[in-house]
Amino acid sequence: MSAGHSTYTPKSGLGRWMDARLPLPRLVYDSFVAYPVPRNLNYAYTFGGILSLMLVAQIVTGIVLAMHYAANTEVAFNSVEKIMRDVNSGWLLRYLHSNGASMFFIAVYVHIFRGLYYGSYKAPREMLWILGCIIYLLMMATAFMGYVLPWGQMSFWGATVITGFFTAIPLVGDWIQQLLLGGFAVDNPTLNRFFSLHYLLPFMIAGVVVLHVWALHVTGQTNPTGIEVKKKTDTVAFTPYATVKDAFAMVVFLALFAYFVFYIPNYLGHADNYIEADALKTPAHIVPEWYFLPFYAILRAITFNIGPIDSKLGGVLAMFGAIAVLFVVPWLDTSKVRSAVYRPWFKLFFWLFVVDAIFLGWLGSRPAEGVYVAMAQGATLYYFAFFIVIMPVLGLVETPRRLPNSITEAVLEKKSAAGAPATEQAKG
Ligand code: HEM
Repeated sequence: MSAGHSTYTPKSGLGRWMDARLPLPRLVYDSFVAYPVPRNLNYAYTFGGILSLMLVAQIVTGIVLAMHYAANTEVAFNSVEKIMRDVNSGWLLRYLHSNGASMFFIAVYVHIFRGLYYGSYKAPREMLWILGCIIYLLMMATAFMGYVLPWGQMSFWGATVITGFFTAIPLVGDWIQQLLLGGFAVDNPTLNRFFSLHYLLPFMIAGVVVLHVWALHVTGQTNPTGIEVKKKTDTVAFTPYATVKDAFAMVVFLALFAYFVFYIPNYLGHADNYIEADALKTPAHIVPEWYFLPFYAILRAITFNIGPIDSKLGGVLAMFGAIAVLFVVPWLDTSKVRSAVYRPWFKLFFWLFVVDAIFLGWLGSRPAEGVYVAMAQGATLYYFAFFIVIMPVLGLVETPRRLPNSITEAVLEKKSAAGAPATEQAKG
C-alpha cells in the first residue's frame, strides 16, 4: 500500500521466491515495517489499529455463532438460549460478540472525535475521511440488524420502530419499508434478510477498511501538530515504534473489553431482550442500543412541522442529516490551521460538542416528553450549529496560536519545556 517504488529485497530465500512471484513480503514490509510515521503520534492514534482488531474479532465470533444460530422466528430466541447454555463456550462467544459490538463503537467514536480534533479530514485526506464515514454507516446497519437476530422484545420492537421511519419519506417510503421487512410487518422474512445482510456487511466493511488504509498510506498520517512531515527526523519507522504502541493500547483496550464480558456482560444490553418477541405486547419504553441514542434523541427532538415537512419526516431528515453532515466536514472547516492544539476557540467548541453528543445520548434514553424534549431540541441545535455555523465561521475569524516550524521542532520544544537535558535534545 506504499505510494512510492519499493527497493526492498526479502532476507530469506523463501521470501525472495515469494516476492518474485507475488510481492506480498514487499507490501507488508513497505506498509507495516519501514513505513514512516510521524514521531509525535499519541495514543489517540492507536484506535485505528484497535478497530481493525475488533473487526476481526467480530467476524470470527460471528461466524462461529452463525454455526449454531437459527434464523427462523419459531426457534431464533431458543437457538440463542441454546448457545448460552449448551454450546461449548457458547456463552463466551455470545458475550464477546454482543459486547464486542459496543467496544467497536466506543473505539469508532474515539477515532472519529480524534479525527475532528486534529483536523484529520482536511485536504488531502478527504477520501480517507469519507471512506471512514461509509464504514461508520455500514457499522450502524450491521449493528442494527444484528440486534434483531436474538428475537427478543427489544429486537422486534426496535426493528418495528426503525423500519417505520422510512414510511415518512414521501412517495417511496412505504415501498422501502416493505422491501426492508419482506412484508408488511417484522416477521420471518425480515429475520431472514437481516441475518443474511448481517453476515454480509462485515465483509463489505473489511473491503472498505482496505481502501481506508490504502488512502491513509497514500497521504500519510497526520499528527497532533497538524504540520505535514517535512524531513526524515520528523518520522520513525512503523515497526517497532507504532507496532509496539498499538499493541500496548490493544492490550489495555482488551482488558476493558474483558471486564465487560466477564463481570457485567449484560450491562449495556436491555433486560427486555431476554423476553421472546411478542407482536401483541409493546414494551413500556422502546430504546435502541446505547451507540444509537444520540441520533434517537435528534429524531425525537423534531416535534413540530417545518413548512410542508411534518414532524415525523422532519425527525427522520434530522437524524439522517446528523450523519450526512459528517461527509461534508472537510469542506465546512475553513481554517488554514489543521490541529485544534493551535486553535483555542475551536478547542473550546469541540469539547462542548463532545459534551453535547454525550448529553444527546443520555436524552435518547429518556422518555420523549416534557423538559427532555426541550433539552433535546437545544442539544440538536448545537449539534448542527457546530458543523454548519461554527466550523465555517471560526476558520475565518479565529487567530490561531503560533505553529512550530516542524514536527521535530514541536517535539524538542516540548522536551525543553519538560526540562530534558540539552544533550538529549540535540540527539532528538
Ligand atoms: C472499522 C472501522 C475502522 C477501521 C478499522 C479504521 C482503521 C484506521 C487505521 C488503521 C488508521 C490509521 C491509525 C490511526 O490513525 O488510528 C485510520 C486512520 C484514520 N481514520 Fe479510520 N478506521 C475505521 C473507521 C473510521 C471512521 C468511521 C472514520 C471517520 C468517520 C475514520 C477516519 C479516519 C481518518 C480521517 C484517519 C486518518 C487519521 C490521521 O492521520 O489523522 N476511520 N483508520
